[in-house]
Formats: sequence, structure tokens, C-alpha cells
Amino acid sequence: MSDLPRIGVLVSGRGSNLAALIAATENGTLPAQIALVISSKPNVPALEIAANAGIPTQVMRPRDFASRHEEGEAIIAAMRSAQVELLVLAGYARLVDPCVIEAYRWKIINIHPSLLPAFAGSMAPGPQAAALAAGVKFSGCTTHFVTEDTDAGPIIDQAVVPVHDDDTVETLADRILRAEHQLLPASVAAVLAGEVQIIDGRRTVRRSSVHAGD
Ligand code: GAR
Repeated sequence: MSDLPRIGVLVSGRGSNLAALIAATENGTLPAQIALVISSKPNVPALEIAANAGIPTQVMRPRDFASRHEEGEAIIAAMRSAQVELLVLAGYARLVDPCVIEAYRWKIINIHPSLLPAFAGSMAPGPQAAALAAGVKFSGCTTHFVTEDTDAGPIIDQAVVPVHDDDTVETLADRILRAEHQLLPASVAAVLAGEVQIIDGRRTVRRSSVHAGD
């Protein structure tokens, strides 16, 4: 077994962010090993992407559990037995139970397709549609630590994309997605490298930008 940090990825669908993470582990920009992929839905492309990369997968459907808490306990058990130290939510269409957040405190990263705190609280393409409806001129994506407050944990990083007058939800979502594929692996790598310091549980700074005495 390699001694790279082991990450677990939670998915529900297309898996393009998972593919970006896999590519980054393969080209060395993300020095980590994806040890387990858990999907909340069966037969989704993300599972095939993981299997093709030789990554173990498990399907955990909400209906397989009596409660969200039980579902959370199963996720913790599977991730621990795969010796996972960091979780990444990559298009995971579930709110994780507080027991998972507690077990992996400050070790769960989510990507959201808007510039949080704008357009929080829904799954793609909801945030992109909301950005178009609001008439904003810029949108983008955000990586953040997952806390008990949905989409409101400390922001790790953001990428901005323009919103064009003739955008549809699809064209805007595609432009944001291309930014996501850069932002997510870079954010995971920065966290694993210890570069992201959480201040008061509310915001983050890069360690290189922390000056003694400031
Ligand atoms: C991505 O746009 C991601 O930001 C979004 O789901 C999509 C998953 O695409 N996540 C959310 O909306 C979380 N609230 P993918 O399966 O191709 O990575």
C-alpha cells in the first residue's frame, strides 16, 4: 500500500468532478490515493468512472437505511475501514448526517456550483438556474469545509466565471463545471498539504499568508 493520504469520495451521478480528482492523482498534482467511492445511487456514471480507475466502490442508497443517522454510521464505518482520512463530496446529492461531520471534523470538502453564500442549499442545476434568474454578471464555484450548516462551512477557495447575456442553464453550468474541475483537486491538495488554516471555525486563510504578529 502506498503511503499517500487516502481520500474517500461521495457521489450521486455523472462523476465529472470524481474524474478530475482521479486525473489529478494520476498526474501528481493531487498527491493522494482515492481509496473508496460511495454513491447514493446505483448505476450512475460515477461508479463506472471509479471502477475503470480500479477504485473500490459501494452503493449506499438512503432507502437501505432506517434513518439518516444509520446511513451516516455506515459511511463512517466504510470510510474508516478503507483508512480514509479526508472525505470529498463531489456531486453528492445528500445532506450528510451530523455523525459523519463529527467523525470527520474539518476533514470533509464539498464543491458547490455558485459563489457561496449566494445560491446555497440546492443541487445542480438549481444554483446555476438561480444565478441566471437573479441576473448576476459573474458566478462560479466554491470549495468549502462541510459543517452542520448546509453550504455555509468555511470557504476554502472560489473560482469566478462570467455570465453571458445569451447563457442557458446548460451553457453556464458547463462553464462553471470546467472551473470546478480545476478548483476541486487544487483545494483538496491544499488541504492535504496543511496549507489551509481555519480561523474561528468560520473562514480560512492560506498558511503562507499568515504573518506572525498580524
Ligand atoms: C457539480 O456541478 C457540483 O458542483 C454539484 O453537482 C454537480 C456534480 O457534477 N454539486 C452540488 O450542486 C452540491 N450542492 P459531477 O457529478 O459531474 O461531478
